[in-house]
Formats: sequence, C-alpha cells, structure tokens
Amino acid sequence: MATIILGVTGSIAAYKAADVASRLVKLGHSVHCVCTPCALQFVTPLTLMTLSRNPVVSSFEDETGSWVPLHIKLAAMADLFCVLPASANTIACMAQGLAPNALTSLYLACRAPVLIFPAMNGLMWDHPATQQNAATLAARENHQIIGPDNCGILACGDEGKGRLVSADCAIEAIVAALA
Ligand SMILES: Cc1cc2nc3c(=O)[nH]c(=O)nc-3n(C[C@H](O)[C@H](O)[C@H](O)COP(=O)(O)O)c2cc1C
Repeated sequence: MATIILGVTGSIAAYKAADVASRLVKLGHSVHCVCTPCALQFVTPLTLMTLSRNPVVSSFEDETGSWVPLHIKLAAMADLFCVLPASANTIACMAQGLAPNALTSLYLACRAPVLIFPAMNGLMWDHPATQQNAATLAARENHQIIGPDNCGILACGDEGKGRLVSADCAIEAIVAALA
C-alpha cells in the first residue's frame, strides 16, 4: 500500500480533505497530512490526525522531533503527493517555486507524482495569473490538475466553476495515479 502526502490549503473546501484522508486510510494507505498555516483556519489538525492516523505537519515548529526536517523525510517517503484542496495562493507558490511553509517546501523536495485539486471562486480560477500558474504545473512531468468542477454553487454564493471535485472523483484519480 502507498504512502500518500495529503497537502491541505486555506480553502473553504479544506474540511473535505478529512473525508478523503479517511477513505484513503480505509483503502489501506498510509496518509500524512501537511497543512498550510491558513488551512488551520478551516480544519483542525486534531480531525486530520485522527482520520489519517498520523501526526499533522502544519509549521516548521512541528518539525523539531528529528534532526532530518520532517518535510524532507516525508517528501522522500511519498509515493504520491496530493494537494486537496489547492488554493490559488498555493498553486502560485508551487508554480513559482516559492517555499514559505512546510507544504510548499515539501513539494520542492518531493519527486513523487503530484495531483493538484484546485478549489476557489470561479473568478479567481479564471484569472490569467491562476490559469498561467495551473498551466505551468500541468506541463511539469508527473503533475496532474484535477478539476475544479465546472458548475455548482460556491461557498461565496456564486454559481459556476471553481468547486473542488467530489471525494469520489478525487479517490478515483488517486487510485488511478497509484496504479
Ligand atoms: C472564508 C474564506 C474562504 C476562502 N476560500 C478560498 C478558496 O476556496 N480557494 C482559494 O484559493 N482561496 C480561498 N480563500 C483565500 C485563502 O485563504 C488565502 O488566499 C490564503 O492566503 C491561502 O493560503 P495558503 O495557500 O497558504 O493556504 C478563502 C478565504 C476566506 C476568508
């Protein structure tokens, strides 16, 4: 069974990562959640730790237990690196190679296949900057962008594209990437 890093960012859809983590554990995978500091405004480390059955990394201060930085250790262990949900900001950081937090640092150190599941307001997704960043990531070897959904009611009240794909769709993409 695989070791999956589940990156969680500061999107209203962050709570859905808990369901995906739980389902992956039930499929027998080892799941390690790495949150941006902003993600913790939307979902608690306690929820993610309990459902993933592993400690959650959310800041460099969580990394004091070992002389090898945890984000480097996890990057080396990963069979798959997922970012679900992926915010516009984290997509931009990943595209530009910026590493202000444990998640984005882990991304740079990781050579496993990368699945990115964007979730944001439709105007944010459609912005040329976000589109360019997503295209940059999609063009990288072993990178896939899944979603966002083309329709649905968004948390901001708008209707249209931007919503995170369903948990079923995410699990399907993860299982396919591991096959
Ligand atoms: C209520 C609320 C919901 C938000 N939802 C999203 C979202 O779904 N997608 C997104 O890209 N940004 C969203 N944001 C903005 C991000 O939280 C913000 O850009 C943040 O800097 C992202 O940081 P991170 O990428 O380090 O997690 C939201 C902000 C608030 C206050």
